[in-house]
Amino acid sequence: MIKQYLLAPGPTPIPNEVLRAMADTMIHHRTPQFSKILAEVREGLKALFGTKNDVLVLVSSGTGAMEAAVSNLFSPNEKVLVINGGKFGERWLQICQAFGLETIDLKVEWGKAVKVETVKKHLQANPDIKGVLVQASETSTTALHPVREIAQITRTGPLLLVDGVTAVGVLPVPMEEWGIDVLVTGSQKALMLPPGLGFIGLSDRAWAMTERAKLPRFYFDLRLERKSQQKGAAAFTPAVSLIFGLRASLKMMQEEGLDRVYARHDRMARATRAAATALGLGLLAADNPSPAATGVLLPDGMDGDRLLDYLRDQMGITFAEGQDQLRGRIIRIAHVGYMGAFDVVVAVSGLEMALKKFGFPVKFGQGVAAAQEILIETLE
Ligand SMILES: Cc1ncc(COP(=O)(O)O)c(C=O)c1O
Repeated sequence: MIKQYLLAPGPTPIPNEVLRAMADTMIHHRTPQFSKILAEVREGLKALFGTKNDVLVLVSSGTGAMEAAVSNLFSPNEKVLVINGGKFGERWLQICQAFGLETIDLKVEWGKAVKVETVKKHLQANPDIKGVLVQASETSTTALHPVREIAQITRTGPLLLVDGVTAVGVLPVPMEEWGIDVLVTGSQKALMLPPGLGFIGLSDRAWAMTERAKLPRFYFDLRLERKSQQKGAAAFTPAVSLIFGLRASLKMMQEEGLDRVYARHDRMARATRAAATALGLGLLAADNPSPAATGVLLPDGMDGDRLLDYLRDQMGITFAEGQDQLRGRIIRIAHVGYMGAFDVVVAVSGLEMALKKFGFPVKFGQGVAAAQEILIETLE
């Protein structure tokens, strides 16, 4: 037996409280019992998204919520600006193109944040842009984009659609305070649930657009979904067991306090970065790192795929690989959701041992010690 440690940016580990809640007896979804649970989770989600408006629970992964955002807000041939700094920026682009929108593909070097000035220039040059689409945290490169600053320039202009899949529940992304029009996430990251739920919140002006938008939609018609969920049901059969789990995970987050949840993620991320640096490794998103996962550059010539296989198969530690041009060159160490100080210690000490096995000179404990200096912050 090799004990397993799931330290990839989704799916993430699931707490026992959530597992037990999901094992509860099935109930019918058009009953007062289910309505009560839905009402509870709807309130919790509003607090998490920082909005007074509905946050709808969809049966889909995060991509479904992204698609719902596009199909509910735009009409054929409308122009949108897509900030494309990684795989999930590409995902926005592909969805917009699949729905026949005219896209401006604002490419950003992988690992970097988009420059707000560049966004501004595109908006000035194209006053007919109807939407700006961005990732708060681009999981593929472990970089953050400056959503708050972008929101300041879109507030009175195009809609701002934010993919918060590895941001919601990891760092503050308060919709109303910042002026975000659409915020989406999925269940399998900071919400500590299995994959299968998508979430989407809309601002007042985004809701107004859902009435004018002419793109086709059926399963993800958010107007219908909102009407149903306000009445305590879902338009179609909801993922009842996942919603049991969601109630438990939101309760855990409320009990910890959102500020402390964010501080925990920030601390784990700083510790992981400090460890990598102490080991002499570079960081992919050194200037704008996400607190959800850390992209660590591997030493020249090291085969990242083999390293990850070794970590997983020999040591039981699952990190994520780099994608596309980063394949084999980086590893992504996650610290998102149900994770704490000692997950970072496992991650770093496992990495030290694997690197040594692969011939990289490592002084055992050097990375771990750097992480410990930061992880000890919370202990009295
Ligand atoms: C930033 C980001 N956006 C979108 C997605 C897609 O979500 P899903 O795989 O749940 O469809 C992911 C998944 O990792 C993600 O990290």
